[in-house]
Amino acid sequence: SRGVSRDESGVVAVAGVGVHDLAAQHGTPAYVLDEADLRQRAAGYRRAFGSAFAEIGAGVDVYYAGKAFLSLAVARWVHEEGLRVDTATGGELAIALRAGVPGAHIGLHGNNKSDDEIVTALEAGVGRIIVDSLVEIDRVAALAGARGLVAPVMVRVTTGVHAGGHEYISTAHEDQKFGLSVAAGQPSARSAGTTLPADVAPDERPAGRAGARDALPDSPAMTALLRAVERPELHLLGIHSHIGSQILDPTGFEVAARVVLTLRAQLAERTGVLVDEVDLGGGYGIAYLPGEVALDPDRIAKDVAASVAASAADVGTPLPRFSIEPGRAIVGPAGMTLYTVGTVKPVRIDDGRTRTYVSVDGGMSDNIRPALYGAQYHAEIVGRRSDAEPVLARVVGKHCESGDIVVHEVQLPGDVRAGDLLAVAATGAYGRSMASNYNQVPRPPVVAVNAGASRVLLRRETVEDLLALDQG
Ligand code: LLP
Repeated sequence: SRGVSRDESGVVAVAGVGVHDLAAQHGTPAYVLDEADLRQRAAGYRRAFGSAFAEIGAGVDVYYAGKAFLSLAVARWVHEEGLRVDTATGGELAIALRAGVPGAHIGLHGNNKSDDEIVTALEAGVGRIIVDSLVEIDRVAALAGARGLVAPVMVRVTTGVHAGGHEYISTAHEDQKFGLSVAAGQPSARSAGTTLPADVAPDERPAGRAGARDALPDSPAMTALLRAVERPELHLLGIHSHIGSQILDPTGFEVAARVVLTLRAQLAERTGVLVDEVDLGGGYGIAYLPGEVALDPDRIAKDVAASVAASAADVGTPLPRFSIEPGRAIVGPAGMTLYTVGTVKPVRIDDGRTRTYVSVDGGMSDNIRPALYGAQYHAEIVGRRSDAEPVLARVVGKHCESGDIVVHEVQLPGDVRAGDLLAVAATGAYGRSMASNYNQVPRPPVVAVNAGASRVLLRRETVEDLLALDQG
């Protein structure tokens, strides 16, 4: 993160707090979150998109995707920086609400929301519920209607655009659980055998059929939008599209935005309803390794704004209000994990080379991403200077599994030894939020650092915490 420095004796500090102090005060492993850095990234996204979209005459809201990491303090920080909060479950929603984020500034996602989650969202007055299926449209409408409420909804669509890393691909057919496809000829919920809730009249015709002029049936996306327009218990705010994560090439956002703006124009033609909002999702990529370049929010905001302005002009509709949902780009680079080195073991590998296995006091329970995705990270010894020749090292955890790898390949000083402090960079996103208690390992604390001081946001779990769950 931006607040990281190293002094002459090789000791690293984050936001002015040295790693030895962090380790002494909070123990290891620990997630260390640089508050000022996180705030700057949040404000940076808001400014970049705000000004680029103002240039084309459109408003924009930035929702922080809480799945990347959410705690009361982080929800407050992003709220104070002018962001809204995107939640994916009742748990995330509860944290955002408890932190004092106004309901109107919260969105609720999820492909399988429970009644409880929907009702909590409705009663909290959330700004939007992103609906993900025809069945859910009817469920949200019924739950809102029963309470005399009108639910603000967006329909999540899939555009066929998939992005991540440096590439984007565009496919006609979706084979994944999220969203409703814009491709015509996809099965409707009815023909797929899905049952409708009791409040839907059995003789009700599938929405959209009446107005269809084409030979092809309506796409699931159009069917869903038509149904949402029809239901008086729903206020259809707009259309939502999320194309992937860790995206480093803006092309995918631009192609998906064009598809969504076209769908919006088609809906207006069919119904006279020109929806107000379009969400382009999250996925803004960050640098994990030295030499990698993150997506620059200013550049991407300009590129995407220019492209949506052109698309809207082509389809002949005024621009909607936009929103985006970055998670990783806000919190990822602001976090690192501090470990203590234990066992160091040289292992002979192919062609006579040696790999030094450096075990740390955490592992796949605090960062599943290397094991799950083959994700790459960078590690350094941060508690001292070493002039020893670097060796080929692999940083591994303490779990009973050979896939328990923290960093697949990294050069570490040849004198790396037990007791060394080792930091892994850019673990702020999807680290603590995907952590587990595998092997009954308590989850590490999240420690915030700012202006030379540290404070605990989430305390370290203990084995007693784990035993407290066990009813014997
Ligand atoms: N909005 C929606 C609807 C999403 O599904 C996601 C991520 C985001 C926003 C935020 O995406 P971000 O800006 O953080 O890339 N566990 C994986 C990432 C899964 C992302 C799922 N959806 C990982 O560790 O890479």
